Amino acid sequence: MDKIKGLLFDLDGVIVDTAKYHYLAWKELAEKLKIPFTEKDNERLKGVSRKQSFNIILEIGGIDLTDEEKEKYCTIKNNIYLKYINELKREEILTGVNEFLEDAKNKGYKIALGSASKNAGVILSRLMLNNTFDAVIDGTMVNTAKPDPEVFLLGAKELGLNKECCIVFEDAKAGIEAAHNGGMKAIGIGQKENLPNADICIPGLFNITIDDLISRLKDLNKGDCYDRL
Ligand code: BG6
Ligand code: MG
Repeated sequence: MDKIKGLLFDLDGVIVDTAKYHYLAWKELAEKLKIPFTEKDNERLKGVSRKQSFNIILEIGGIDLTDEEKEKYCTIKNNIYLKYINELKREEILTGVNEFLEDAKNKGYKIALGSASKNAGVILSRLMLNNTFDAVIDGTMVNTAKPDPEVFLLGAKELGLNKECCIVFEDAKAGIEAAHNGGMKAIGIGQKENLPNADICIPGLFNITIDDLISRLKDLNKGDCYDRL
């Protein structure tokens, strides 16, 4: 029976809402390419790598480009995105996150970031969270994107923990799948209808503690038993 000792957090949509800035940047690029791109379409890009996101947009527009052209446009999009990110404020950390992380750390849990973003370093420093996590795994350190579990398996390894001792916090379908593909439980951040496979779904990290979540996981009675550290 494994005790939960490690918490692996996605960044975009769990710690901070950067989806709106990704949207504005992709929208600006899509307009240059005369591709209609809506906020609803943007939902499909959550948790998905930059390259895959652009492929989805090109698919919407029915446009085919060479790898070289795709790379050029992804760089343009990232430069637009960085203009927003460079203005990010600590107040944009999602409600309850600071308190949740502090409580978990005080209780002895190890915490890691597991993000697909190659901009995670900039975002953490804008939010003054660079010294908060015991390990940071981002899009520059992995070869395969979520739903592959690489980012979370590496996170557990960096924390010096077995994956069975870790749980994942995710707002994207691909991220929930990545956790499950790695053999870890996943707490969904968002609405249950968007994250039907999450083991537990909560609207955010407010009004809840890690103890509450672990006892709810225990109550799931799905054959696994989770104990508090
Ligand atoms: C994920 C976001 O965290 O990072 C995706 O949910 C984004 O929308 C991906 O495409 C890659 O981000 P970046 O910053 O490397 O372009
Ligand atoms: Mg996310």
